[in-house]
Amino acid sequence: MFFRSSKDLVGIDIGSRAVKVVQLREVKGLWHLQAMGMASLPPEAIVDNAIMDSSAVIDVVKSLHTSLKIGTKNVVTSISGHSVIIRKIQMPIMTEEELENSIVFEAEQYIPFDITEVFLDFHIIGSDVNDPTMMNVFLVAAKKDFVNDHIAIFRECGLTPMVMDIDSLAVQNAFELNYAVDDNAVIGLVNMGAGGMNVSVLKDGASIFTRDIQMGGNILNEEIQKQFGLGSADAERIKLGQVIPGIEQQAVEEVLLSATEMLAQEVQRSLDFFTATAADDKIQHLYITGGIAQLPQIRQALEKRLGIDVEIIDPFRQIVVNEKDFETEYLKSIGPMFAVAVGLAMRRVGDKND
Ligand SMILES: Nc1ncnc2c1ncn2[C@@H]1O[C@H](COP(=O)(O)OP(=O)(O)OP(=O)(O)O)[C@@H](O)[C@H]1O
Ligand SMILES: [Mg+2]
Repeated sequence: MFFRSSKDLVGIDIGSRAVKVVQLREVKGLWHLQAMGMASLPPEAIVDNAIMDSSAVIDVVKSLHTSLKIGTKNVVTSISGHSVIIRKIQMPIMTEEELENSIVFEAEQYIPFDITEVFLDFHIIGSDVNDPTMMNVFLVAAKKDFVNDHIAIFRECGLTPMVMDIDSLAVQNAFELNYAVDDNAVIGLVNMGAGGMNVSVLKDGASIFTRDIQMGGNILNEEIQKQFGLGSADAERIKLGQVIPGIEQQAVEEVLLSATEMLAQEVQRSLDFFTATAADDKIQHLYITGGIAQLPQIRQALEKRLGIDVEIIDPFRQIVVNEKDFETEYLKSIGPMFAVAVGLAMRRVGDKND
């Protein structure tokens, strides 16, 4: 699943709602913003993470790459959703090379897909605290068809996909760059997109749990459409806070509250699943990102439900930005949508997701 070489790279996140592009340059340990931009996709171009209208996606990726004058054709991108499975497994301590040789045999018992139909990868988390002879490993399996569809998009754009990452791991990468947390701190991380959410738990800066949820901000649009008999464009406007004549604000607020409650409930369910499997690790703080994180109701719903502080991630927080080239206010306002792309832009070929 990973392609190796070493050159300048650009991070391209194809979300179901919009494509985001970020290019960073590392100079003496600091990341500098070189280029960034986003463009919307037509509503049905990507459904349930699957590319339904590849020519629409190709057009958007190509024109963004051209208009931003990205100097490299080498792309880091990512996938997520139900064609991608991440499982935390335990293996006896061994080298990366040994693991590489045995992972296929191990994977069969954990992956609900035919093993010949998936690309496999792994990421060693570290030795197990309770049993030092064992180590914890993230096993990643992604359906070949799904990965190949994504690769084909970039090839059609005349671009070269160099690294295929996973959304939740890219978000973790962006988080680690921008936020310092106490040793031993256990924190939750949720990327809340239009079509889905990626939930992770980090301890001591290392990922110990990750799960994708197939529900995202689109349910807000659907509820608004259903409730008020509106089309998708109007529903989107209402969600973003615009007032539409004839629609009562109080009624809008109620729909938003109940739909955000559904999202918060899904997040809680995932985190409960983590808590049930993690001896005594208690999540102390939740960081959220993705477009939906900007909705004030979602933060409130999560804080109320989980009883912990919830903070919105600014993925550009520690990135050096030349104010002549980028408006810092703009970066702040769209920041949450760029967490995946920033995490991708920091990848270098040969990295092993750490
Ligand atoms: N200021 C805002 N307030 C509320 N919602 C917002 C705001 N800005 C964007 N959104 C919503 O966020 C969603 C887009 O977020 P994001 O870019 O993270 O999704 P995506 O990456 O395209 O989707 P996915 O990752 O699920 O495929 C849309 O549903 C959009 O309406
Ligand atoms: Mg996304």
